[in-house]
Amino acid sequence: PDHVADDLKNVLMSREEIDQVVRDLAARIDEDYKGRDLLLVGVLKGAVMIMADLSRELKMNVSMDWMAVSSYGSGTQSSGVVRILKDLDTDLMGRDVLIVEDIIDSGLTLSWLVSNLKSRGPRSLEICTFLRKPDAIKVDIDVKYVGRDIPNEFVVGYGLDFAEKYRNLDALGTLAPHVYQSE
Ligand code: PRP
Ligand code: MN
Ligand code: MG
Repeated sequence: PDHVADDLKNVLMSREEIDQVVRDLAARIDEDYKGRDLLLVGVLKGAVMIMADLSRELKMNVSMDWMAVSSYGSGTQSSGVVRILKDLDTDLMGRDVLIVEDIIDSGLTLSWLVSNLKSRGPRSLEICTFLRKPDAIKVDIDVKYVGRDIPNEFVVGYGLDFAEKYRNLDALGTLAPHVYQSE
């Protein structure tokens, strides 16, 4: 049968490598937030996998909430103008909040999200991203936890999609050209 991994050109991170990166992130977060009441805020839909794995690697008890946002504008690149599709259920006033993202590309989504969430009066607000593309970032954002810096290439898997597909791939990879050409 067809396999979700069949369309990959290169595997950037195997499932085992991903697990190790997630374990290291979780260890740092457990240490840094010792004794605190932490709220993880996942950004739908890409962050579903990292949120599920990271939260289960944590030894500490955390709360989880979700936001869905969409950037306006044409094309595949985010414009920085963001619309909330699903807001948090949780009041952030006085809370220790950690945003959990799958990837920082241009950084525009997260930069908007940070200023939006900051205005809600959290006690602290930090970012944990599984991936970051240093060569694609357009804005200055303070990111406390980065799983892995990657080259400026389109990647899929582990929550990241191409046209809503490949999110369920357990590894991270680049897509073969024939996938784009058939679109
Ligand atoms: C992707 C990714 C990040 C964002 C990063 O989400 O999951 O949330 O883009 O891009 P940026 O740094 O250039 O703003 P997308 O908007 O594709 O939605 P999805 O998570 O549902 O796939
Ligand atoms: Mn996303
Ligand atoms: Mg996407």
